[in-house]
Amino acid sequence: RKPVSLPRLHEMRERGEKITMLTAYDATFAAAADSAGVETLLIGDSLGMVCQGLSSTVGVTLETMCYHTESVARGLRRVQGTAWIVADLPFGSYQESKEQAIRSASALMHAGAHMIKLEGGGWTTETVAFLVERGIPVCGHLGLTPQTVHALGGYRVQGRSDSDAQRLRRDALALQDAGADMLVLEMVPALLAAELTPELSRCHTIGIGSGNGTAGQVLVMHDMLGMGLGKTPKFVRNFMAGNDSVRDAMAAYVAAVKDGSFPDNRLHAW
Ligand code: KIV
Ligand code: NA
Repeated sequence: RKPVSLPRLHEMRERGEKITMLTAYDATFAAAADSAGVETLLIGDSLGMVCQGLSSTVGVTLETMCYHTESVARGLRRVQGTAWIVADLPFGSYQESKEQAIRSASALMHAGAHMIKLEGGGWTTETVAFLVERGIPVCGHLGLTPQTVHALGGYRVQGRSDSDAQRLRRDALALQDAGADMLVLEMVPALLAAELTPELSRCHTIGIGSGNGTAGQVLVMHDMLGMGLGKTPKFVRNFMAGNDSVRDAMAAYVAAVKDGSFPDNRLHAW
């Protein structure tokens, strides 16, 4: 198997093949996801919640992100894995300046990431262009952006009003123009995500709680294994149901995303 690369992802996109992503935080589960055929692994700052027991992602540090990124990268090396590794820039590690952003992004790249992800639109455009010009592939993240949960007033659907939807569309197109190759859309209306996706032909939309019209899907691994702490969002499916192993559950997720049976748009009334 050849390593997943940006050209490979673009080829998949052109063929209309859905891109799969799962979060990964350690060597063993990263290797399992890779062998199940998950093309892209995200070391999400959701690790603050699922690994560290924090109540939001706001407290996650760059050092912690690097630790988990190194673990995932080593796990993949051990099994000659091929997944594309995306790592989150945590809260406070890129907001100050473009220079701060590239220092933090470099730390994640040194730890083994192939691409970094950062949250938000508008002001982030300049930062994304700065990173991309300097050779760092970037994934954006719009809609529900958990690092700004306190400013948003809670975990809820974004882009519902016309003006919010217009701003989201503007932000998404600006991120594509800045050179972002990927964009997570979290909890945005399924119709909006589906309309935006063809406009973002150079920037693969990866949806979570955003319906089945995106170029790919992502879930927090613990959620899709039925192991979420607290309330599991209703768009999540427990892929352990009917499967005997974590690897099989991950393979079932891949199959369901590829054949369009996950997610179910009826669970995305927004
Ligand atoms: O941190 C994370 O797991 C994420 C995904 C949910 C997109 O950002
Ligand atoms: Na995240």
